[in-house]
Amino acid sequence: MVVLAAGDGKRMRSRLPKVLHRVAGRSLLGHVLAAAAQLEPERIVAVVSARRAEIEAGLGEAARDVSFAVQDPPRGTADAARVGLEALGAAEGEVVVLPADTPLITGATLRALLAEHRSSAASATVLTARVADPSGYGRVLRDDDGGVSAIVEERDANAEQRRVNEINAGVYVFDAARLSALIAKVGSANAQDEYYLTDVIELLRAEGDVVAALVTGEDEIKGVNSRAQLAEAGALIRARLCARLLDEGVTIVDPATTYIDVTVTIEPDATILPFCFLEGTTVVRAGAEVGPNVRLVDTEVGEGASITYSVARSSKLGPASSVGPYATLRPGTELGEGARVGSFVETKNTRLGSYSKANHLAYLGDAEIGSHVNIGAGTITCNWDGRAKHRTVIGDDAYISSDTMLVAPVTIGRGAATGAGAVVRDDVPDGALAVGVPARIIQGKGNRVRRRGAGDDG
Ligand code: UD1
Ligand code: CA
Repeated sequence: MVVLAAGDGKRMRSRLPKVLHRVAGRSLLGHVLAAAAQLEPERIVAVVSARRAEIEAGLGEAARDVSFAVQDPPRGTADAARVGLEALGAAEGEVVVLPADTPLITGATLRALLAEHRSSAASATVLTARVADPSGYGRVLRDDDGGVSAIVEERDANAEQRRVNEINAGVYVFDAARLSALIAKVGSANAQDEYYLTDVIELLRAEGDVVAALVTGEDEIKGVNSRAQLAEAGALIRARLCARLLDEGVTIVDPATTYIDVTVTIEPDATILPFCFLEGTTVVRAGAEVGPNVRLVDTEVGEGASITYSVARSSKLGPASSVGPYATLRPGTELGEGARVGSFVETKNTRLGSYSKANHLAYLGDAEIGSHVNIGAGTITCNWDGRAKHRTVIGDDAYISSDTMLVAPVTIGRGAATGAGAVVRDDVPDGALAVGVPARIIQGKGNRVRRRGAGDDG
């Protein structure tokens, strides 16, 4: 299999190689490779530009299953296919060739194309679609008996050919030997002075080879050449993903305002309320409720847990835990079963044990908090001393009163408590009470503050 990914992508007007632009959590090339992998090909060669290292790095793990061949300079799709074929080293048998900029293509359609190719004993089988607006695509020309006779690029087409609404998806199965023989004959006498892979079709027909075609749905073959098409493809991929999840038993109240990456897992009977963004390796377990207005990145939401109006990254919400509104869970946050994080609480690299609560206004960073602990409003783990981060450890059943400053490193024992406003610098033994910086009481001076504030309504 050969994936063509070496084009300049000029129409994107971007510094990033076109095939690395992302939709629904994957690069364009990544989407195509995921579909290609479903055919379980012996080898996948991606033909890339001189920016190979950047593309390889941008692909991440998906790069493992691919070998790269460099086409430099990009001289057209036929030239790219030639480079790919040479790298593939397959002199015979079938070779699937597809562009890297059609992220909606599915493994099922690739399988159907291959089946059509085999059953028609063709030298080439082309994937096509009939569309309302063919502009920008190569037009598929058929002869009187309905066979594909040629593909003509829009820029090289005459007025009559432009009216043809069957377009070339750029996805083909070829007989490898016939392809390499005829690629050598492709010239570049066209509007773009490029070597067009599409010309191989006419050359094959001229030599009496069988050319077959499979007509597929309009959406699947959408190519991405511009930012507008990138956005359009993203919307289609998301709609398709939501439809699949709905089918599988996930409640999505409003798919139009739900943005789920293809890499996300959601179990049946989870509920996704409007205006949510679920990204990366996020997992939502059965019975969980997410939203409205939630962004989850690489986060697991446990069974029956809920999160609303909040952002979580690289975090884990235990079963039946609840978060929000207006909480920020930064990387390394872990909530035990039934734990609760409420409004204006920020957590980072912190474990909040089962049934523990931080209901309002707190910062919990680098902390290990046991179960059934109460974190009062205004509590802060002072984890940074200007030079380094330190840990706070709080034992089970501890009670941290409002506005406690826990100056790390510090340990609060099991069943220990702090008084409101305590500044705790030393470890508190199990069961002990820490009270600190109490306000001094000065008799008879209350009126001074009152007078100063008179007439001031702030
Ligand atoms: C191509 C087809 C067109 C089809 C459309 C479907 C040709 C000549 N035209 O047009 O018939 O309707 O796709 O989307 O094939 N590439 C290289 N090296 C190059 C040039 C391109 O690797 O020298 C790669 C690109 O990165 C891209 C793919 O080939 O992934 C297609 O190239 P692109 O320039 O997007 O072709 P289109 O004009 O869209
Ligand atoms: Ca294209």
